[in-house]
Amino acid sequence: MQRVTFFVSIFLIVLLTNGTHSKNPGLKSRITSNGLNYAVNVALDVLSKDITNKAIPDQHDKSGSVSYDITGMKITKFTKPTSTVSLQPGGLMWRTSNIDIGLHGDFHYKYKKGIIRISDHGSFDLTGSGITIAINLIIGMDSMGRPTISSSTCSCSVRATGIKFHGGRAWIYNLFRGKVAKKLKSSIEGENGLLCKQLTKLVNVDGARKLAQLPVSVKFARKFLLDYSFLSKPAFSSGFMETYHKGEVNWYGGHGNIPFDAPPLPAGSSSSKMLYLWLSDFLFNTMSYTAFSHGFLTYNVTDKNIPGGILNTTCKNMCIGKLIPKIGQMFPNSQVMLNLRSSTMPNMTAFNATTKVDADGEIKFYATKGKGKVDYFLTLSANMSTTISITVKNEKVFARVLKLPINVHVKDSKIGHLNDFMLNFIVKKIITTFVEPKLNELGGNGFPLPIIGSVHFANTELLIHQNSLLIATDVKYLQ
Ligand SMILES: *[C@@H]1O[C@H](CO)[C@@H](O)[C@H](O)[C@H]1NC(C)=O
Ligand SMILES: *[C@@H]1O[C@H](CO)[C@@H](O)[C@H](O)[C@H]1NC(C)=O
Ligand SMILES: *[C@@H]1O[C@H](CO)[C@@H](O)[C@H](O)[C@H]1NC(C)=O
Ligand SMILES: *[C@@H]1O[C@H](CO)[C@@H](O)[C@H](O)[C@H]1NC(C)=O
Ligand SMILES: *[C@@H]1O[C@H](CO)[C@@H](O)[C@H](O)[C@H]1NC(C)=O
Repeated sequence: MQRVTFFVSIFLIVLLTNGTHSKNPGLKSRITSNGLNYAVNVALDVLSKDITNKAIPDQHDKSGSVSYDITGMKITKFTKPTSTVSLQPGGLMWRTSNIDIGLHGDFHYKYKKGIIRISDHGSFDLTGSGITIAINLIIGMDSMGRPTISSSTCSCSVRATGIKFHGGRAWIYNLFRGKVAKKLKSSIEGENGLLCKQLTKLVNVDGARKLAQLPVSVKFARKFLLDYSFLSKPAFSSGFMETYHKGEVNWYGGHGNIPFDAPPLPAGSSSSKMLYLWLSDFLFNTMSYTAFSHGFLTYNVTDKNIPGGILNTTCKNMCIGKLIPKIGQMFPNSQVMLNLRSSTMPNMTAFNATTKVDADGEIKFYATKGKGKVDYFLTLSANMSTTISITVKNEKVFARVLKLPINVHVKDSKIGHLNDFMLNFIVKKIITTFVEPKLNELGGNGFPLPIIGSVHFANTELLIHQNSLLIATDVKYLQ
């Protein structure tokens, strides 16, 4: 019996672990040591600039018979420390050394015991130098697919502290400043000291709250939603951390029910740039599927879209009615409208430095005359395999049609037998004068990457791998 239970549990474990790993990400990011150290450096730059003259909340407290207020505290000096981030299993270790800090504040205290009452006020200058802090940051994922952060170990050492009092009975207090400074040093230092406590709180409370509010989707092109929530916990190796995201495009306000899975992404091991982003075919194909299944991939082409009267049925020189006389005879003095419609979702595949989109569709022909009169007369089935060029600019992915070969043949005709060759000629003309510019306009709007507004790409390279585009880039933080 026990043996059976044992096998069942093993079986379940295998099943469950396979289950959690079966989904491939649609978007993968790799942030390298270079990237992390750059980010921390930027953060410290911002902090160093921001922190001086920053007011610190007043302190009011009572200890035994003494009640005191410390007010008007300000950081007067902060030298940017040296800082490194190293990767560890489950997270990061941030080590920053040689912080020098100066603080000015006012104090006021009252001592009351029996009939003895003493009170005084003045100001003080506090310095701390050679402060070294190391804190670990564990990065995980919550049930909503948002990143989480917490810290479990912190250490802090202080080379020296000093304090000097001014005003009031400062000369008396200054006699004890050595003692006070020593007390201060010991209260700041160590894993339970003031600094580690504050930092740990900053990470575990403020940081955690910020991350819990982080958006994990972005709306774009009015109707679409890119879901980039975490699929699994980030992974950490010695040179980089990787995050795995859903990378799925759904209808805005709809439910995502994409009927296909993401293909595996190539592993890759480069780590010389700061950031690597893998965009799976899946990302684009979910957008394609969503657009297709919401009836987005249909368009009526009329003579408004194609200048020059080519869609006229009656003309002197060149028009559809001349090229295919049957159309001219059956619908004189009319215009042809074409309803283009995808019959399957366009499918993007990236491979061997090429990106192509295969699409199947139908083109329905209507003759229109004036307002309201619409006569259907022909359906063509069409295949096209578009080769596109992809570029990355301003943190967006742009696409442009390189080749758009299309093949059509008659699927249904109300006007008898028609010549495929002529039809192909006309359709190609319509594709090059209307469809291709329209696609380029769409591709020119750019596909957004989930990047924070103040982060910009530099030295960006785009590589096309099997089933994915890889953006390898450095980043610059600009305020
Ligand atoms: C295109 O024209 C057909 C036929 O007149 C019409 O049924 C359809 O609603 C039109 N589609 C669009 C997107 O305008
Ligand atoms: C096409 O037909 C429209 C409407 O009948 C007419 O105004 C236009 O001049 C024609 N264009 C050509 C090039 O024949
Ligand atoms: C897209 O094309 C690839 C390669 O031709 C194929 O393996 C895949 O099944 C297609 N996907 C869809 C959703 O049609
Ligand atoms: C990839 O493309 C290159 C250059 O176009 C070509 O020489 C090579 O044979 C292709 N490889 C595969 C596997 O298709
Ligand atoms: C369209 O695609 C089908 C299936 O892939 C193929 O058999 C057919 O020859 C293609 N037709 C044209 C006109 O290219």
